[in-house]
Amino acid sequence: MTSTTHGFGIDIGGSGIKGAPVDLAEGAFADDRVRIDTPEPSTPDNVLDVVLEILARFEWRGAFGCTFPGIVRNGVIGSAANVDDAWLDFPLEKVLRERTSQQVVVVNDADAVGVAEDQRGAAADVDGLVIVTTLGTGIGSALLHHGQLLPNTEFGHLYLANGQETEHWAAASVRKDEDLSWAAWAQRLQDFYAHLEFIFSPDLFVVGGGVSKKADRFLPLLDLQTPIVPAVLRNDGGIIGAAMLAAERFT
Ligand code: BGC
Repeated sequence: MTSTTHGFGIDIGGSGIKGAPVDLAEGAFADDRVRIDTPEPSTPDNVLDVVLEILARFEWRGAFGCTFPGIVRNGVIGSAANVDDAWLDFPLEKVLRERTSQQVVVVNDADAVGVAEDQRGAAADVDGLVIVTTLGTGIGSALLHHGQLLPNTEFGHLYLANGQETEHWAAASVRKDEDLSWAAWAQRLQDFYAHLEFIFSPDLFVVGGGVSKKADRFLPLLDLQTPIVPAVLRNDGGIIGAAMLAAERFT
């Protein structure tokens, strides 16, 4: 498949790798997405095989975007908190370009969600400073000012006043692992968002990740000055944002 109004996005995660063609005008999937479990170990070679398999299933020819759950600087991986350490310093963008002979943008997963939510989702009507966070296995973040992304913010690695690294204390996975009540988990999130609010004075917080489906269980428990809303694109934002960024860069 190839098209001028369609792009393609791939979202590499710690548990699944997902891809779909994206209708860029609609900001939505153009076909059912494909999901394949992240291989164990999640080394570059193993993950690349899955990425190529997803592109092949759609016979995609054209520019595409690909997310990664860590720091991405000029297409090179700078951290790998929830995937194999062999990713450190791996030039993912260059390798994907060589293996597919297509133009590609590699972007941090939460940054891709941020771009999608800012252009097509919960922040589409907010023209100021937007902080998007994804609550999942880890905590991802994106900071956008008037639509301009400041990449690799990594707020999930902020240390809170109790000395805990936020994602080890307040990720959605921690709620499950420690069997926390929604209220107990919300208290942890409160420290995180209140801290971000004080430092950045944002106009809007957007909360993504699978748990955003249950936003009514925990967002109303937070006490913030800043509006805080669930992501509109749910778990599709990474794929959609990656496809948008590729289209922006290459068309
Ligand atoms: C990583 C971030 C990523 C987030 C969500 C964190 O552990 O450091 O880069 O965005 O997990 O996957």
